[in-house]
Amino acid sequence: MSTKENLPLVLGVESTCDETGVALVRGHELLVDVTASSMDQHARYGGIIPEIASRAHLESFLPTLESALEKAGVELSEVDAIACSAGPGLIGSLTVGNCAAKSLASALGKPLYGLNHVVGHLAVDQLVHGEFPERFVGLVVSGGHSNLLLVNDIATDIVELGGTLDDAAGEAFDKVGRLLGLPYPGGPHVDRLSQQGNPEAIKFPRGLSRPKDLKEHPYDFSFSGLKTAVARYIETLQKQGEELPVEDICAAFSEAVNDSLTSKAIAACQAHDVKTIVIGGGFSANSRLRSLLDERASAAGIEVRMPPLKYCTDNGAQIAALGSNLVAAGLAPSDWDFAPDSSMPLTETYIPGNRS
Ligand code: KG4
Ligand code: ZN
Repeated sequence: MSTKENLPLVLGVESTCDETGVALVRGHELLVDVTASSMDQHARYGGIIPEIASRAHLESFLPTLESALEKAGVELSEVDAIACSAGPGLIGSLTVGNCAAKSLASALGKPLYGLNHVVGHLAVDQLVHGEFPERFVGLVVSGGHSNLLLVNDIATDIVELGGTLDDAAGEAFDKVGRLLGLPYPGGPHVDRLSQQGNPEAIKFPRGLSRPKDLKEHPYDFSFSGLKTAVARYIETLQKQGEELPVEDICAAFSEAVNDSLTSKAIAACQAHDVKTIVIGGGFSANSRLRSLLDERASAAGIEVRMPPLKYCTDNGAQIAALGSNLVAAGLAPSDWDFAPDSSMPLTETYIPGNRS
């Protein structure tokens, strides 16, 4: 019988975008999670600059790794397996992280798993709330994704129910933030301001919510029409020389996004007879998403698992957590020649290999 101590120790390496993350996980226990961010270097450009992000990973990887090992009091030789994000994400950033992880795995003679960063956003919840139920609906919401997944097994069996047809939720928030002249990334600012506004003050449209759309796209989202409606509203007031009710705009916009996300997440559970929703990704830090989902799920008798805010944005813990599931499932490691996949499908938990 395996005890906690003899479960494999998995080192996770995250490098999909602007965060260099290194973490150590044993089973569902997190030993350490260290993150270095290059966001400060991108903020003045109003968006992530891929070349800057790649270079920052190169500079940060070894110091981040050393800091994680030191904090955990672990020697590299004690690591049993290495997991790294292999996609989806920025190809240059992924390449730096994947080369670093390959070098470590090869030097240590340990198995390497190139895995799906987005699935990691769900897996991280196990480190806080423990084992997953048999099946759950995953709502992954970030700057690049807004997807509903039916997770039958986090290591091996994920069905994509739907996703955004245009902007991701975080992306839509960042764009509205830009329209309102807020600093990049706008998401957290729009969220903060929305808490002081009246969500009923302005009626903004809900994408893909008409009966015909619900039939054709029951679990898909669309936020670009909403974003355009917000832009028109702002433009009209500005032309009339009126002051912008910034808090009300943020509140009404946030309500529209979160109404769509939460109603479709609940509908997905009901249609698939699932009793648990797990949320993940940077946008899952959104205050209205959390409160509205809580409200609607408890009314429907559905449990919601939300990772704490520090595990919502990109981190090494999500990668080590998913890696730990793959190792526990006895899956073959990725082959040494795997390449990162910037558009890795969400149904692929990792890049499978043929080695035993
Ligand atoms: O998952 P993440 O860290 O990076 C990827 O996109 O992979 O997500 C970042 C996104 C950004 O668009 C950011 O504005 C948004 O998540 N975000 C938020 C909040 N916190 C982060 N959006 C709305 N409300 C928040 N509290
Ligand atoms: Zn992410």
